[in-house]
Amino acid sequence: MLFKKKIEIDSSKIPKHIAIIMDGNGRWAKKRGLSRNFGHKEGSRVLKKIVRASHNLGVKYLTVYAFSTENWQRPKDEVDQLMKLILEYLRNAEEELKDHSVRIRVIGNRKGLPAEMQDEIERVEANTRNIEGLDLVIALNYGGRQEILEAVSELVAEASSGKAVEITETALAKRLYTKDIPDPDLIIRTSGEMRLSNFLLWQGTYAELFFTNVLWPDFTEEHLQEAILSYQNRQRRFGGV
Ligand code: IPE
Ligand code: IPE
Ligand code: MG
Repeated sequence: MLFKKKIEIDSSKIPKHIAIIMDGNGRWAKKRGLSRNFGHKEGSRVLKKIVRASHNLGVKYLTVYAFSTENWQRPKDEVDQLMKLILEYLRNAEEELKDHSVRIRVIGNRKGLPAEMQDEIERVEANTRNIEGLDLVIALNYGGRQEILEAVSELVAEASSGKAVEITETALAKRLYTKDIPDPDLIIRTSGEMRLSNFLLWQGTYAELFFTNVLWPDFTEEHLQEAILSYQNRQRRFGGV
């Protein structure tokens, strides 16, 4: 008989900000003899579940890596399908999540996205702006290095226009896409890969990392709880003792 393992997490110590590198859609599909796109579809379904679960657990910010600046290197057909799926997700998310108090925000290089997608992002952000509950932050055409470069360019432009700018961590952080979002406490990556792939390089400096072999389309609320439990059993020292 199969027992569902009950995971005892401390509800008073839920990470405020969880970030997820949702990886393994392609392998999940391949294992089943299906097209990669099928894996992405399943992945999008799982995301909806995990958003609700995170909110129920009391997470305040959930950042998910949906498309990296490097993902444009994939075959055109896969990129097109991914864009289509993300657009669909944005279109449905608002309705779907409205009873769950989810505010949607997007980080990444917007100008590099199809115009239709940019419009949809603006629409969904505007419509959910006043919702309080969980902030779902979708990293789309996102790259950590590019984000830092953009922030530096802004600082340089301000300085060369004669404005007095301080070069401090705070000044730089204020020019990142995440300017009003706290740093992630916990970064989860699925599918067994143990790398950041250009995700939240600046913000993740002191995040706890959790890697699991589970492929994203198989990721469940129980896996999320397992990651939180692992987080709760760690000692964050931030360089201290
Ligand atoms: C993650 O799954 C989704 C995106 C990167 C958009 P992958 O598509 O990377 O799946 P694998 O790593 O090939 O299995
Ligand atoms: C990272 O996954 C990007 C997303 C999950 C959106 P990839 O599958 O693109 O990363 P690499 O290529 O294995 O590093
Ligand atoms: Mg991958």
